Amino acid sequence: MVGAVDKHLALIGFMGAGKTTIGRELARLTQRPFVDTDEEIAKRFGPIPELFERGEPEFRQIEEQVVAEALAGPTAVIALGGGAVLSEATRRRLRRTAYVGWVTVDVETAWSRVRDSGRPLARDRESFGHLFDSRADFYDLVAQGTAQDAETMLLEALHVIFSSEIACDAAVIADEQVASLHELPVAGAVTLTTHLVPAGEQAKTLAVVEQLWRDLEIGRDGWIVGFGGGSTTDVAGFTAATYLRGVHWVAVPTTLVGMVDAAIGGKTGVNTEQGKNLAGAFHFPWEIRIDERFLATLPAEERRAGMAEVVKTGLLAGQEVWSLPDEQMIRACAAFKSAVVLSDPYEREGRRAILNLGHTFAHALEAGSGYGLRHGDAVALGLLAALRLSGRSTDVVEEVLAPQPVRVDRDRAWDALLRDKKGALNLVLLGDEGGFVTQVPEADVKRALDELIAD
Ligand SMILES: NC(=O)c1ccc[n+]([C@@H]2O[C@H](COP(=O)([O-])OP(=O)(O)OC[C@H]3O[C@@H](n4cnc5c(N)ncnc54)[C@H](O)[C@@H]3O)[C@@H](O)[C@H]2O)c1
Ligand SMILES: [Zn+2]
Repeated sequence: MVGAVDKHLALIGFMGAGKTTIGRELARLTQRPFVDTDEEIAKRFGPIPELFERGEPEFRQIEEQVVAEALAGPTAVIALGGGAVLSEATRRRLRRTAYVGWVTVDVETAWSRVRDSGRPLARDRESFGHLFDSRADFYDLVAQGTAQDAETMLLEALHVIFSSEIACDAAVIADEQVASLHELPVAGAVTLTTHLVPAGEQAKTLAVVEQLWRDLEIGRDGWIVGFGGGSTTDVAGFTAATYLRGVHWVAVPTTLVGMVDAAIGGKTGVNTEQGKNLAGAFHFPWEIRIDERFLATLPAEERRAGMAEVVKTGLLAGQEVWSLPDEQMIRACAAFKSAVVLSDPYEREGRRAILNLGHTFAHALEAGSGYGLRHGDAVALGLLAALRLSGRSTDVVEEVLAPQPVRVDRDRAWDALLRDKKGALNLVLLGDEGGFVTQVPEADVKRALDELIAD
């Protein structure tokens, strides 16, 4: 299991680090329950300073029990008290059931936040400093990632890393176009064996996968790296899921779509004669290594396609991510997608559906065009329709993406939309709290689709 997929997201760290604030934010974004073990203790056993007066050992025992109960419960975001990891039993349970994120803070900031809080262990500056130093060793022992804010913690929790350097021997499955433009940086004496696949969507066939099955020479403990856009990472991930019944893989996306969307979330697969992505597997990459330098060679139309997904993400997140510089924009989008993925990693509860904002219309237009229309351009139009049906302004989409109605076969588009939906017309719309799925009357959907099509 990678990171916090199907595991608790447990926050450890010193008092005053902001575990509760960040924890609440993470719980909201991942739609997981939030447990603050200090709050839980106070609720059940009384104020913590009073418990401490009866002696720290008794408090630690209560704490160990409350943490154990939280860790035995449904997958959650859990903020632990600063000293909880002193318990060996707690550390063992954490290792088994949680991704452990260390919320770091410097000692001065921590002291300024808690000096007047009346906490039993924050009464004088000197012993506070000693405690700070000694606790750090324990945090270091169990932490799998560190962060000071929710966005970074989300990226850490899905192993999204902002560097493309590969640190171990690996078989690289590379988009041939990308491989002709870029070299994958390595750390130290690492051997990479490259297997080229056709550029873009052409690589997403079972024939390509079969060829890779034949050519790969790695063992069960070997690594695959997918190096290219979403098409390449989809096929590399699927090859990793199936080769020798599954080996580890790392995604190195080189398109904007790959960095903000395709490489994140564990969906891998190929196309079949019947349609796109019809064969595949959930197989989370061990790491997603993002390096915006690869974007320097990306054709303008591919960048535009990526911006459509960026605007979609920004609308859902309620953040103007599209106006940020590239790295910040990618970080924000990747973190938002990570949060949605962590809310429902294997799409069992339909929570990942909100990521399809605008996509029902996009898929219909793509079908109506006989698949000549670029996905990103179709999404830009789809966003217009979704916003109109949501009764919201379309200004951002017009300004950033400037979509124009397209000439496609109206009947084919409508038939495709109905087929896609198979029955009730459930669409993702946008509300004040973000995306939600709702039923929309057929006539309204038809009208919204028609508005996207030029005569
Ligand atoms: N798994 C998922 O969750 C998920 C999500 C979204 C999309 N996808 C899939 O991703 C695919 C689309 O991926 P994409 O939009 O990233 O494009 P892509 O991988 O199809 O690549 C598009 C083109 O850009 C070229 N290219 C890639 N990186 C480049 C670079 N740095 N410089 C110059 N050229 C470069 C490729 O050679 C190709 O010609 C679709 O198959 C879609 O189904 C998957
Ligand atoms: Zn899309």
